Amino acid sequence: MNFKTKVTELLNIEYPIVEGGMVWAGGVKLAISVSEAGCLGTLGGGAFSDEESLISSIQTIKSSTIKPFALNIPMIYSHADMLVEIAIAQSVPIVITSGGDPSKYTNYLKKNGIITLHVISTVGQSLKAINAGVDAVICEGSEAGGHNGRDEITTISLIPQIAKKISIPIIAAGGIATGEQMLASFVLGADAVQIGTLFASSEESSAHPNYKKMIIESEDTSTIMTSRRNSPVRVLKNSFSKKMINWDYSNLSKEEINDKIGRGRSMQGILMGDIDNGILLAGQSSALIQRVEPVSQQINNLIKEMIQSFDRIKHYFN
Ligand SMILES: Cc1cc2nc3c(=O)[nH]c(=O)nc-3n(C[C@H](O)[C@H](O)[C@H](O)COP(=O)(O)O)c2cc1C
Repeated sequence: MNFKTKVTELLNIEYPIVEGGMVWAGGVKLAISVSEAGCLGTLGGGAFSDEESLISSIQTIKSSTIKPFALNIPMIYSHADMLVEIAIAQSVPIVITSGGDPSKYTNYLKKNGIITLHVISTVGQSLKAINAGVDAVICEGSEAGGHNGRDEITTISLIPQIAKKISIPIIAAGGIATGEQMLASFVLGADAVQIGTLFASSEESSAHPNYKKMIIESEDTSTIMTSRRNSPVRVLKNSFSKKMINWDYSNLSKEEINDKIGRGRSMQGILMGDIDNGILLAGQSSALIQRVEPVSQQINNLIKEMIQSFDRIKHYFN
């Protein structure tokens, strides 16, 4: 089946599926596999603070696939400027900026020929991103794994509100791990979906097997929003997330909470597999994920389920 949407046209991909940038889960192998499967693979730039390993990773992707790929630049990291310079120097075709002001880099990236997508979580932020000149917005609801918007608007509410206000391509994110949810996203006004947690659980993800096992064993209540006072982050519940929740409701200042969390907690959890004391970024879709599979299989499932679910409801409209 041939899927043509504003996003497949913009990004020159076969299927309207984008791999969300992911620290410690979204490495070279996953990006190559997603791109090779006809979707947009994304290298999680947050994990690269040294130039050399970033350059060699980008070069590995380029030598392994001729298909488009993206670099994610989370603007909350102090090495974001370096990521931007390397993206330009290495002629990365697409950049996904997140967690910051889109006017900071968009113009510069676009002047250098890079298609620029930006992650937002409110209608107001989508308008700012358009003013900044982005090519498409990734609209992320609060079901999503990882950092979330303060207002915690869900995907099902956010997408139609944005679709009413803007005409540039919309990529829906947050909670999407099945073809049924993909179909729903298109009905709500999206032109593609961005997927994180499902791909983090794939065979090719660089996440530790302990992390993947926890996703597979997840239930509806297995994730929680932490760090609400600093910057909301959805994680799998574990003993460290309990501490984070307690700190949120304590008399500790934001700085004291940050000191207690310390640095490197998500690497400890996702990459090293410390499921008790690490931070395990993951979304509510965890409960829908039953097994660790190759990403090409996950993508086949998504497309098949989307078509089947459309066929299943067609008769309602007779
Ligand atoms: C393990 C993990 C790491 C993530 N790291 C980042 C990141 O570095 N930058 C970013 O923009 N988003 C990050 N995200 C969010 C994803 O890019 C994506 O938008 C989100 O996972 C979509 O929601 P879903 O998890 O429900 O599929 C991360 C998500 C996960 C699960």
